Amino acid sequence: MSREKPVGTVAAVDWSRYETDALRAFDSARDDSALSEANVAYLGRKSALKQALREVRDRHAGVLLNGIRARLEAASRAAAERLAREQASRREDADGFDPTLPGDRIPRGHLHVLTQIRREAEDILVGLGYEIVDSREVETAWHNFDALNQPLNHPSRSPRETFYVDDGRETLLRAHTSTGQIRVMESREPPVYVAVPGRVYRRDTPSPTSTPVFHQVECLAVDRGITLADLKGTMEHFFRELFGPGREFRMRTSFFPFTEPSVEFDVTCFLCDARGCPVCKYSGWIEMGGAGVVDPAVFENVGYDPDEWSGFAWGLGLDRIALLRHGLPDIRMFWENDLRLLRQF
Ligand code: DAH
Repeated sequence: MSREKPVGTVAAVDWSRYETDALRAFDSARDDSALSEANVAYLGRKSALKQALREVRDRHAGVLLNGIRARLEAASRAAAERLAREQASRREDADGFDPTLPGDRIPRGHLHVLTQIRREAEDILVGLGYEIVDSREVETAWHNFDALNQPLNHPSRSPRETFYVDDGRETLLRAHTSTGQIRVMESREPPVYVAVPGRVYRRDTPSPTSTPVFHQVECLAVDRGITLADLKGTMEHFFRELFGPGREFRMRTSFFPFTEPSVEFDVTCFLCDARGCPVCKYSGWIEMGGAGVVDPAVFENVGYDPDEWSGFAWGLGLDRIALLRHGLPDIRMFWENDLRLLRQF
């Protein structure tokens, strides 16, 4: 039996020369079409290498040819990468601008955590039909104390407690947003449904739980026939929206000169879920603020007829809420403007 000519094509080619020529062609390709020509000539279907590989019969020739193929394929890939790099740098050289590079990220800020909470509270109240009103921070003693039925000898009138702006103790930085109640009632006729958020000032020594400047939201509803039940229903809704359905809410009797009856209100502790912890002093409850039915004397001070109108009011500290909600150990952190903290919210 006559055998076919063994590995005819394999024997007919000087493979070392083939490889040298091919490598030179890949290395010297100046553009995509030169590279593609080299690919066709040395690695293409009709190239001597591929033909020989199809015909190869013995192990020695197979190892030789597959080795050449692997090295040539690598050289071809390297050439393609080199051409891509050259093209990119030519683009850049042309106008000094490479549109394929990612742009610089412009750092974006966001609202301060206290502003976020304030806006959340405002949104809930707007949803209930309340109007958000801005009131002044520099106030008269009348709006901060007298009109709110505060007795003349009350300790909060002392310059040790309140920041007076003048020596005559007529002008001061408001100590609560309740001043906004008076401003609104002086300037419009009932019915009134307003909320007054803002900064308030007290001469407190900075500590983990207090700062001389903090934030409150005041709420005032004046209409015919308003009772304590309306206050309770409104607050329950407000807290459910602000804290989610998991929190309980309660009212305790208290005293404020501008409300009768007066209450203070608590929600179940968000840190321990009312099981008891140091933050709620093991009571399960956190105090949130004060509220009550507007005292008839206050209506008289602003010229409303207390026989016709009744209302409720409440005031709530926002900084405490932010502190508890995020489990922060120190209320002064809100004023340090440390971006490492603020970026987390
Ligand atoms: N102004 C009170 C405070 O700062 C809080 C407060 C209590 C506001 C009773 C009210 C209220 O509107 O009715 O401690």
